[in-house]
Amino acid sequence: MGEKQNIQWFPGHMTKTKRKIQSSLKLIDVVVEILDARIPLSSHNPDLAEIIENKPKLVLLNKCDKADRTATKKWVDYYLENGVTALPVDCKSGRGINKFVPSLRNILSDKFDAQKKKGIKNPVLRVMIVGIPNVGKSSFINRVCKQSIAKVEDRPGVTRGNQWYTISNDLELLDTPGVLWPKFDDEKTALHLAFTGAVKDRVLDIELLAMDFLEAVKKNVTPEFLSRFKMSKEDVDGKKPYELLELIGRKRGMLISGGEIDMERASNLVIDEYRNGKFGNITLEYPED
Ligand code: G4P
Repeated sequence: MGEKQNIQWFPGHMTKTKRKIQSSLKLIDVVVEILDARIPLSSHNPDLAEIIENKPKLVLLNKCDKADRTATKKWVDYYLENGVTALPVDCKSGRGINKFVPSLRNILSDKFDAQKKKGIKNPVLRVMIVGIPNVGKSSFINRVCKQSIAKVEDRPGVTRGNQWYTISNDLELLDTPGVLWPKFDDEKTALHLAFTGAVKDRVLDIELLAMDFLEAVKKNVTPEFLSRFKMSKEDVDGKKPYELLELIGRKRGMLISGGEIDMERASNLVIDEYRNGKFGNITLEYPED
């Protein structure tokens, strides 16, 4: 999805997406929002609630293989407390996907029963998938449609270009009718999107990125992180992010003339290793944040 990462945020994109999603709302029964389990806040577009009005919603916490298990559980509970079902999924291995259809049926059971009562013999429930770029929408659709890859033919009243997929004989899925952009309201959101690779580094200061990441690591340091840099928990606790970054650079022999640490190289190393899962599962955002 490399080329998608190059697209920068323009408010015009969001206006277009908003219009597209709203014009498709009448065709669907439920919205499935895919979030990144490591950054459920930053990967969520806060305008979504207003865009989808009062359509029921199911949240998928994707890439849960890369998130901290306890943190993901906290998020599931948090959503439940707020009346939303959230499912941890891993579209790479398929873990959690088997709960998707039963959860949808549960959410839509009233509507399903009402349609049956009206005499509709085989009601079909329709689902819309939304999420920011790189969150795993295509991976999810591929996973869930594995058994029935057939696309539904053009349907009257459906805008050309909308992609419908059949999941089962009573469930159909509409691919995102537009690009849902994250909202870079604050620096933290932008940083977290950059950590997880959802936006390009180039737009940000890599040293700032690494230090903010190390700040997050300090809250929940993993054994993998410590062993990667041969550090103790005390080493991490007692240091400011800048000092920690220096120590990492020194440990990896990243020196420039005069024996100074090459902070840029050290920053790139930290970010790359996090993205490649070398530090174990680290969630960057918690419900209590
Ligand atoms: P999008 O349609 O929302 O833009 O996202 P897409 O499915 O293309 O996924 C973006 C990247 O995230 C892909 O990696 C994909 O493999 C990865 N991904 C999706 N779901 C999961 C998940 O649950 N766990 C993990 N670990 N990764 C996931 P890529 O590097 O762009 O491609 P690839 O080399 O992995 O195929």
